[in-house]
Amino acid sequence: MSNTENIFNNAKSEIEKLWNNKSVLSNFVKFPKNLLLKDLNKNKIPVTDKLFKWNLNLNTKLIELHNSISKLSPYVNWEHGYKEKEVGKDFLNRYGFFELIGPTGHFKTSEMALYVNYLCKNAYYPWHNHDAEELYFIVSGKAKFESKDQNTEILSSTNTRLHKSFESHAITTDENPVLSFVIWKNKFENVSKLTKD
Ligand SMILES: [Fe+2]
Repeated sequence: MSNTENIFNNAKSEIEKLWNNKSVLSNFVKFPKNLLLKDLNKNKIPVTDKLFKWNLNLNTKLIELHNSISKLSPYVNWEHGYKEKEVGKDFLNRYGFFELIGPTGHFKTSEMALYVNYLCKNAYYPWHNHDAEELYFIVSGKAKFESKDQNTEILSSTNTRLHKSFESHAITTDENPVLSFVIWKNKFENVSKLTKD
């Protein structure tokens, strides 16, 4: 097995361990069996190096998980999901995600999608929604979550938040970045769209 494959498989096994320990994740969606690593292109964007180098204010209980994800950063297909004319250039410098597990992810499955999301400090991810039901799991850092039908909350490492289908939400960071898993089930083929709320 190549070094890169080891890095991917290590991240997958850290995530699977997390699934076995957190019923909030396994109750949302079962962790898929027999995930196959595909040969996807890698794509570097401004947050790639930021995640790779992030080692401040980490939760020691999730340090192996965090490190397994940050080590992946140079080898994955980072995306923005939005165009510059929709969100502005500054946002594209502060945000990105990659589909680690999913129909078009590095580990292919049609049972769920797991996106790794990174939002820099002092950033604002504007209101958006999507067809898929979504569970956020915070790996590292901190952010304010606003949603149409829920109270505003500050979430940090190990916290979760559920968004119903088409429930608009927005995310703001201050002095910390935030690294999260964004898990989608049902209708995950439809992408996220900005909303006015
Ligand atoms: Fe979302």
